[in-house]
Amino acid sequence: RFFSGKSCGKSKVNHAISKDSAKVAHSFDMEDIGTKAVFCRCWRSKKFPYCDGAHTKHNEETGDNVGPLIIKRKGP
Ligand code: FES
Repeated sequence: RFFSGKSCGKSKVNHAISKDSAKVAHSFDMEDIGTKAVFCRCWRSKKFPYCDGAHTKHNEETGDNVGPLIIKRKGP
């Protein structure tokens, strides 16, 4: 793949999520997260900010290697 000039390596990550917002951010209280939460990091999930598995197709199509952030609660 060939990149040149200003476009070298610079492209948008977010193609579809809340494009009317200046910045997409989410906040969660730890108490509200159950035993496990899986958050999207590929920006392709239809359930963003949660992962819906869309990263698999994205990786297959682009050769990328992205995946979710998984948060687990230990013990009781
Ligand atoms: Fe984006 Fe899984 S759908 S990381």
